[in-house]
Amino acid sequence: MSLTPNPRVLYAKVPGPGPLVAGEHLVYESTPTIDLDAPLNGGFLTKTLLLSPEPFMRERLRDPSIFTYSTPMVVGQPVVGFGLVQVLRSEKEGVKAGDYMYGFTPWEHYTVQPYVDARFDFAGANYPPYTFDMDTLVLQPVPDPQGTFRWVHFASVLGTPGLSAYVGLESVAPDMKAGQTIYVSSGASGVGSMVVQLCKNRGLRVIASASSDSKVEYIRSLGADVAFNYTTCCVAATLAEHGPLDYYWDNVCGKQLEAAIQNMALNGLIITCGAMSEYNLAPEECYGVKNLSLIFKRRLRIQGFIMSDALPELLPRFMAEVPALLAQGKIKSQEQLYVGLDKGIEAFLSLYDGSSKAKPVVVVDEAYACM
Ligand SMILES: NC(=O)c1ccc[n+]([C@@H]2O[C@H](COP(=O)([O-])OP(=O)(O)OC[C@H]3O[C@@H](n4cnc5c(N)ncnc54)[C@H](OP(=O)(O)O)[C@@H]3O)[C@@H](O)[C@H]2O)c1
Repeated sequence: MSLTPNPRVLYAKVPGPGPLVAGEHLVYESTPTIDLDAPLNGGFLTKTLLLSPEPFMRERLRDPSIFTYSTPMVVGQPVVGFGLVQVLRSEKEGVKAGDYMYGFTPWEHYTVQPYVDARFDFAGANYPPYTFDMDTLVLQPVPDPQGTFRWVHFASVLGTPGLSAYVGLESVAPDMKAGQTIYVSSGASGVGSMVVQLCKNRGLRVIASASSDSKVEYIRSLGADVAFNYTTCCVAATLAEHGPLDYYWDNVCGKQLEAAIQNMALNGLIITCGAMSEYNLAPEECYGVKNLSLIFKRRLRIQGFIMSDALPELLPRFMAEVPALLAQGKIKSQEQLYVGLDKGIEAFLSLYDGSSKAKPVVVVDEAYACM
């Protein structure tokens, strides 16, 4: 038996509200090993190529007694998230060596799939019906793009961010019409940048914001009609100047939601996708939106969604449309690469500490940084 190094990012300690601490809650371990020839017990062995740090992972790192929409991760096991892997060996029917697969996978170099120890025991937990068992997002085969687009796009426009934008627009706002106006917060984020582009493709007027001038430039390069820095402009005043809004795609909640509500058109629709401004806060610290009464006065609608709910129905359409648009250059994507799993924690924390410059991708196998 020969052992191969199998570095990992360990979920070491349950955090409270507030920023995660590298080395305390999340720990990079270089010493674990794996026997790559060990029995697979009917499963398959994968090599991790790319990982996608994503905001929803923060909520999974919590005291399991707290209910939210997701199941928690398991302390003492590697962090789990979306990634691209390649199959090295397989005992599973329909999965063969060389296959590329995308879906949930532990943050480690090699994994015997299905991963079992890092999976939360949902069947044994007494969770409310709105809870989604995240560990069911198992690996799915993906075709080799053979150079028509880069592999890293499976962690951005072709991964969860792109899917979330597509699924949210198709399932919540299928009646969007050319000429209508939408405001997108976190417009340079993985999800936001895709919403900007899909809405421009549908002929909407798009207003979008981000926290830095370089991100604002990026949003403009995607075709947004109005792009502004929400840290230096008054959001409500900017929306008043360019509104009213038929749609607001809310990635952040809090004050930006309040500013959007203030500027919604009659019968406008607010699509709530996420709450970036709240993920690191205790409930009592979250900003209390003050103008909720405008929802009835202006007959507004608010609709939340969880991408995975409509995924089975919409994934085939997404795969038929979006990779082709990407290959034709009609959809763009910008990623910030963190090369090496040892950079994984830094990449994840960049989502929350203002240091992210674009959608972060952790490149575990260096060859995939430029392929
Ligand atoms: N409902 C679903 O099924 C679903 C699925 C996927 C994602 N989402 C949600 O979609 C949103 C975007 O996700 P993503 O994967 O696109 O994220 P991402 O690419 O990692 O970008 C997240 C962005 O959030 C912004 N941000 C960070 N801290 C913030 C704060 N305190 N206040 C306001 N903005 C802050 C930053 O942009 P700026 O620097 O411009 O502020 C950051 O670049 C998140 O809310 C996520 O939870 C929802």
